[in-house]
Amino acid sequence: MNEDELREAICAHGRLLFGRGFSVGSAGNISVRLPDGYLITPTNSCLGRLEPGRISKLDPDFRHVSGDKPSKEVFMHRAFLTARPETGAVVHLHSTHATAISCLAAPGETAPVPPLTPYFVMRIGRALPVLPYYRPGDAGMEAAIAEAARDCRAVLLANHGPVVSGKSLDDAVYAAEELEEAARLALMLRGQPARQLSPAQIEDLLQTFG
Ligand code: 13P
Repeated sequence: MNEDELREAICAHGRLLFGRGFSVGSAGNISVRLPDGYLITPTNSCLGRLEPGRISKLDPDFRHVSGDKPSKEVFMHRAFLTARPETGAVVHLHSTHATAISCLAAPGETAPVPPLTPYFVMRIGRALPVLPYYRPGDAGMEAAIAEAARDCRAVLLANHGPVVSGKSLDDAVYAAEELEEAARLALMLRGQPARQLSPAQIEDLLQTFG
């Protein structure tokens, strides 16, 4: 996809995420890698009403070059985009169920959402580290996320929400959606003897689709 198509795609995904309540108000942000820098949603923008021409463009050193003022969470996106060279896009949401789990799980946990379904495992992988709480926009989160991102496609920020990467924008959005649904299932089945995927089934999924 060229830059114009990616701008349109960010707006289309934003509309769909917002439409299903996966982001509310001005919460959430999306970034995409370009050959000559990055696109990121503007700060205080509503994902449901993004405009392609107003999306912020950053140079390869993450300096703002055009469009509206970038998201204050640029550090969180930069952590994934630099620590995982295969990352083409990053999605951060405050989606309700994943955020609920971010309030229940202890920082340091690596599997706060159980492996109940194949698509969660295929999209998110084996581990989802829970990182400590950081104030939104706190540059201090960058090092912690970058360290986790070397081995993981996504992290959960305590009392805040998920940050999910993917090779493409579609991959990152689909993974964020699977995480939200897996978190919803986990909460729905909490305290019940739900069957989880076995280590062999997880291994088979990662070998086949990973
Ligand atoms: P921005 O409006 O700066 O993108 O921040 C929204 C958000 O999700 C904070 O975590």
